[in-house]
Amino acid sequence: MNSLIHLTSSQNSVIIDTPEGRMPSIVYWGKKLGENTCLETLKKVLTPALFPGCMAEYEAPGFLPTFSMAIFSHSALSGHRNGQDWAPEFQLTRVKREQNCVLLTCCSKLPGLELTIKLELCPESSVLSLGYKLTNSGETDYQLDQLFMCLPLFPWCREVMSFTGRWCREFQPQRQKIAMGSLVYENLKGRTSHDHFPALIAGEEGFGEQNSQTAAFHLGWSGNHCLRVEKNQQGQQYLLAGELLMPGEIKLAPGESYHTPALYAVYSPEGLSGVSRNFHTFVREHLLSFPSGKERPVHLNTWEAVYFDHKLEDLKSLASHGAAVGAERFILDDGWFKGRNNDTSSLGDWTVDPGKYPGGLTPLISHVKSLGMEFGLWVEPEMVNPDSDLYRRHPDWILHIPGQTLIPGRYQYVLDLSRPGVFDYIFKSLDNLLTEYNIDYLKWDMNRELIQAGNALGKAGINAQTRSVYKLMDKLEKKYPHLEIESCSSGGARIDYGILKRCHRFWTSDCNDALERQTIQKYASLFIPPEIMGSHIGPAKSHTTRRTHSLAFRAQTALFGHMGIEADLRSLSQAETAELKRYLEFYKKHRSWMHRGTVVRGEHPDISTQITGIVNKDKSCAVFCIAQLKMPEQSVMDPVVFPGLSPLTGYSITFPFIQKGENNPGQEKPAWIKSVLEENSPDFILTGEQLMTHGIRLPTLDPESALIVKFDAAEES
Ligand code: DGJ
Repeated sequence: MNSLIHLTSSQNSVIIDTPEGRMPSIVYWGKKLGENTCLETLKKVLTPALFPGCMAEYEAPGFLPTFSMAIFSHSALSGHRNGQDWAPEFQLTRVKREQNCVLLTCCSKLPGLELTIKLELCPESSVLSLGYKLTNSGETDYQLDQLFMCLPLFPWCREVMSFTGRWCREFQPQRQKIAMGSLVYENLKGRTSHDHFPALIAGEEGFGEQNSQTAAFHLGWSGNHCLRVEKNQQGQQYLLAGELLMPGEIKLAPGESYHTPALYAVYSPEGLSGVSRNFHTFVREHLLSFPSGKERPVHLNTWEAVYFDHKLEDLKSLASHGAAVGAERFILDDGWFKGRNNDTSSLGDWTVDPGKYPGGLTPLISHVKSLGMEFGLWVEPEMVNPDSDLYRRHPDWILHIPGQTLIPGRYQYVLDLSRPGVFDYIFKSLDNLLTEYNIDYLKWDMNRELIQAGNALGKAGINAQTRSVYKLMDKLEKKYPHLEIESCSSGGARIDYGILKRCHRFWTSDCNDALERQTIQKYASLFIPPEIMGSHIGPAKSHTTRRTHSLAFRAQTALFGHMGIEADLRSLSQAETAELKRYLEFYKKHRSWMHRGTVVRGEHPDISTQITGIVNKDKSCAVFCIAQLKMPEQSVMDPVVFPGLSPLTGYSITFPFIQKGENNPGQEKPAWIKSVLEENSPDFILTGEQLMTHGIRLPTLDPESALIVKFDAAEES
């Protein structure tokens, strides 16, 4: 029997070895192999020899390296049955293939555990999805300490990019060489976290944007997680990924199963831009579902405009100003519910503040709707302030360990949503609001980390809490299928593909400073497409960094996400209002293709010159932002090259936001740009090939400024 399974997608091949009575493994994952590839030969030539002093058999780590195998690096499974069954040996017992999906059932040799591995290769995006189910088929409880999924890291993987950060500084990349031993990235915050975005990219040494081999991995999970890169003395390299379980968190009674979150992986020979293209295609096809086909509306969010100071007339006026510049959805942020005048009280009491809103929210909502805008409302359903009616009634409803220190975060505790009474109360509170008011959108916030998160029995409750949040969102979605949800968590601390199945936008960061945003958005864009990457034009002086930026820089940065405004529009001058309007008009004119297009990131000799583009799917047009993050290294900027275009297409070049005669942005414009800006100027038409190879000269940009360049297909040459 041929034990080799060949899955193919538009770009990739995955070859899985499924030997009877042994454990399955991936022998090849990479560029698509020809139809006539002889799989048996491939397997033979890739099987290593034994080496002196080694154990009697060579074993690949496969999908489940364990303590029972001669791997001698971290085990994917750890658990026991009262001290027994700590090193179970598994063998493959069943293989089921349906098109591009393979189910591999493996049983422990001594009865007691069954593992099902589900692996699917998406034909269009080439994203490989992996998920495990472990069932206790024994007769006594099995204590599961951890179950990680495992994928190979082929020898060309020499270094790893991971993503760290903090509040207002999400998605900061860091690189580490893969050396003998382990690289361990653990998130213990109980939410996806600012510090450890659940993803890793492995690649050739110095892998870059366009032409390097890369393998990217993302764990779709919003709780604790662990990603490990292992390399052992035999040269075996593999990635382990899964939920990080707390002691005693998962005990499987006979017949019970544990499901891992899904692991999504991309192999790309086209570097980071290939990674994001494939992930975006997958997200668009399989994870995201907008309740209606409408384009992503321009947001106006009240937070940085009024904070907790809600006055009906001010808010109405803000909405009117928003509508006048082109905003399409008004989001009433924190501060609207009973007694909520700052962040110390009221979470859990989800009724409208009668002092601020004597007639409820209807007068505001009616005004917003009369302006043709949708209405969104901020909520933070998982939380309670000690200073709240809810907490006074039910102090025992929170995740805690009785007798230990109760540690608040942002003056709040976390409700134990795994308790049916708590879940029902929160569902009812949201349900009441959604029934009473015409609400199109919820901004769902989550502003603290989980610590000592014990449930009613004092046991660790992070897994159950994460699943309960998903359940709550799923239940709401069922009842309100047209409702959209934004996942926010002190900015971008809950961005992952697990929550994305239930939401429609991410609040990428609380930092609206365009300079910080350039980096945050660049690396977030590896995983999330622009249409869900919330990106706001904030006040000129950033509230979170106190830097000041031009409206142009702020707006040009926000253009590359799901655009919004988060500033007091009432204080803008006429000229600023007109300028803002121009950016919103541009966004609206082009969002239909930008939000379906291919995101590319360019490279420049000056690393503080950042190039981000979106190319229409059919490559007929593209828009690029060239942002200068620091003082340029040279007085004359090197030419800029633009990736992702169609080589044979001739493109005309325009600068939508350079005004004729103005010297902004940056210094003196090259002569050719001056003539492009002149009426009756000669048309400059360059092929995609030229733009991707020698590029064009642009004005040397001032630090903390940007320039937008647009390309439109003019002719086929
Ligand atoms: C944190 C969020 O990230 C902000 O956008 C804002 O909604 C505040 N919470 C409100 O408390």
